[in-house]
Amino acid sequence: MKVDGVRYRSVWVADDGWSIGIIDQTKLPHSFATLKLTTVADATRAIVTMQVRGAPLIGAVAAYGLCLQARTDASDEALKTAYSTLFATRPTAVNLKWALDSVMAALLAVGVQARVATAYAKAAALADDDAETCRSIGEHGLDLVRAAAAKRADIAAPVNILTHCNAGWLATVDWGTALAPIYLAHDAGLPIHVWVDETRPRNQGASLTAWELGKHGVRHTVIADNAGGHLMQHGLVDLCIVGTDRTTARGDVCNKIGTYLKALAARDNGIPFYVALPHSTIDWTIEDGLADIPIEQRTATEVTEITGRTATGQLATVTITPPGSPAANYAFDVTPARYVTALITERGVCAASREGLLTLYPERRAGVRRAG
Ligand code: MRU
Repeated sequence: MKVDGVRYRSVWVADDGWSIGIIDQTKLPHSFATLKLTTVADATRAIVTMQVRGAPLIGAVAAYGLCLQARTDASDEALKTAYSTLFATRPTAVNLKWALDSVMAALLAVGVQARVATAYAKAAALADDDAETCRSIGEHGLDLVRAAAAKRADIAAPVNILTHCNAGWLATVDWGTALAPIYLAHDAGLPIHVWVDETRPRNQGASLTAWELGKHGVRHTVIADNAGGHLMQHGLVDLCIVGTDRTTARGDVCNKIGTYLKALAARDNGIPFYVALPHSTIDWTIEDGLADIPIEQRTATEVTEITGRTATGQLATVTITPPGSPAANYAFDVTPARYVTALITERGVCAASREGLLTLYPERRAGVRRAG
């Protein structure tokens, strides 16, 4: 996608042919800064500090982290250590394991001399696949937005879409998952308006989704996390589209904390609740999201403090809780499949169920070997 007319992906190989470029997402929306990663430690730090975040992007940066490791020591032992370090960065998004496994399998299949070239080729293929996959998600999601547009009594009125957190191009390699249909709908000339949940505690909606949508010229309004139910009760939301960090084989989805409450409100108000995801987000090894998805718990200071820009342009962090009040910071929640109207994938739209997913991914049926 473009930033002030310049095309960017969220991760890239720099002009030197080996170091890795990223956008420092901790600086947005106040400044746009890029960073160069030159070691596996840099890649690890970028994920841990959330300079890069979003399930597919975490996977892509981890894949490039293995490339950086291979440059200095491509032995089995060194690669396995790097794999473990990168894997330990964030627990919930399954794309991380998927990407690390994909690159490791390719590396262990070739001799040490061939590993640097193999790693970069595999990581690049993975990144290109993610960009293409997200664009396809956008195409399939666009049909749903068109269907919502066709239902409006006033065809000049915008389609109101509510989204949570940031599942845009910053969270993937390009295009995004939940935001891809929105970009394509906007580009196709459909009138769109997006309700952007601020997404406390880290405010990925207010700082990243709002920034992305603004850069692309998509009409949007940032709302407090608790406003969505009220808007739905008053007919101000036509559909919800969110992303997911892990989707189970039966269609439970795990996304940024607060997603579940939006799904409940959508169900109560008869509003479609769609979840957009690439194949790399499906964890075929588990069924029950509540029981089996590890939920990341982060530092309490993300809840007790808030950072923003002052009237004089300085960044400032302030405390918003009384001294001594403990805070808990659960980063994700699980929305059971029964609250999901449909899943939007690169292969099409399906029911949030085992059968629905298997219809789109038949190679996952028992006894059928997976392609690719
Ligand atoms: O903690 P984050 O910012 O990595 O969480 C990101 C999300 O929850 C996104 O909704 C998710 O990764 C969707 S996939 C594009």
